[in-house]
Amino acid sequence: MALLEIRGVAKRFGGLRAVDGVGMDVAEGELLGLIGPNGSGKTTLLNVLSGHMRADAGQVLLEGRSVLGLNPTQLTRLGVLRMFQMTRVFNRVSAFDNLIVCGLAMGLDEAQAGERAMQLLGELKLTHVMHLDAGQLSGGQKKLLEFGACFMVPPRVALLDEPFAAVHPTMKEIMAAFIRRRNESGQTFVLVSHDMPVVVELCPRSVCMNAGKVLADGPTQQVLNDSAVIEAYLGEDAHAGHEGHEHG
Ligand SMILES: Nc1ncnc2c1ncn2[C@@H]1O[C@H](COP(=O)(O)OP(=O)(O)O)[C@@H](O)[C@H]1O
Ligand SMILES: [Mg+2]
Repeated sequence: MALLEIRGVAKRFGGLRAVDGVGMDVAEGELLGLIGPNGSGKTTLLNVLSGHMRADAGQVLLEGRSVLGLNPTQLTRLGVLRMFQMTRVFNRVSAFDNLIVCGLAMGLDEAQAGERAMQLLGELKLTHVMHLDAGQLSGGQKKLLEFGACFMVPPRVALLDEPFAAVHPTMKEIMAAFIRRRNESGQTFVLVSHDMPVVVELCPRSVCMNAGKVLADGPTQQVLNDSAVIEAYLGEDAHAGHEGHEHG
């Protein structure tokens, strides 16, 4: 049994079928890439999985248990955690204490929280700024801090939506290394990213969506070489027009 089984999930906005009968499995310990041109429904799917949006149809099973329709708090408690792009930290509290507060809120005792905070600060190369107020950190450091806070109690499955978008290359390296290391020790991820080199490097398997549907699902390199996938991305570039071929 897969950790997460997604079956026929649909979400429409008025007449627009943003997610149109999507199905896929996420295995325990997997680092699954979720790719596809802009507007293909990736963020909407993650919103449905995390309970931030209500699906119109479908089924989502977490370890065989139906979880579709639960709210974000309930899903977080079950370990389905979506990480948002925006930074939400307490600016007037130190980086270290931000993690502690988060850990205590997630049910850790102080000793556990302290231990895990130190571990995370080390992994994210924030130890040297741990006593600074979060408000004094750079934007990238804040993002790393917020990212780390989600792992004070590691989720059953971490849903990442474009974690590398608009992030300095150094931060991106740190984040990618963190994801790889955590995955090697068993953490399950679904990673949405436009950064194909990183997806190729990190994700053995990927699902490509287009216009709300799954276009391809398999080994990442095979998915990227799929003619329907290439065509979908060419369509995106055509729409982007003279804005060029960059995907963040
Ligand atoms: N809250 C919303 N209201 C209306 N349309 C939306 C909303 N969110 C997303 N959409 C539309 O749904 C489609 C899928 O969007 P999205 O899931 O953000 O795609 P992706 O993350 O793959 O770029 C797009 O056409 C987008 O404009
Ligand atoms: Mg998106």
